[in-house]
Amino acid sequence: MSALYFLLLALPAATLAVNLKPYNETAHMMFVESDANGDGMFTRNELDMVFKGYDTNGDGRVTRHEYTSYTDLHTPTLHDLSHALYDIYDSDNDHHLDKHDYDNFFAIMDADGDGIVQEMEFTIYWTALYGSLEHVHGHGSQG
Ligand SMILES: *[C@@H]1O[C@H](CO)[C@@H](O)[C@H](O)[C@H]1NC(C)=O
Repeated sequence: MSALYFLLLALPAATLAVNLKPYNETAHMMFVESDANGDGMFTRNELDMVFKGYDTNGDGRVTRHEYTSYTDLHTPTLHDLSHALYDIYDSDNDHHLDKHDYDNFFAIMDADGDGIVQEMEFTIYWTALYGSLEHVHGHGSQG
């Protein structure tokens, strides 16, 4: 179940529709949802589980449509953000998310390179990312 609620999709639609700020609080809630076994460490395997939740047709890869359709259905105001995030995940730009992309993305979040994404690393990464993407999700929000 947690796999279906990864990252920005982890939050109740009402929260998302209003505001992602403060970003560190949003990042904290995402971490809790993404850390499937609740041990305070986000692992490479847990990242796989998360994206498996988007693989609607079960072919082992996640297309843009598979990734964005949940957002479009539940939080249409975050349509632009979900596309911007897909662009970030799709690091080799081949229009499919697969192992290569997950390896890259995990390595970026794992700032100290020890193979585990601690909550601190996760929160710092996502707080900065939401800040840098404010132009695609910050319409009308304040503070
Ligand atoms: C988020 O940042 C604020 C301001 O620095 C801080 O008071 C708060 O405890 C932080 N929340 C989390 C979950 O880290």
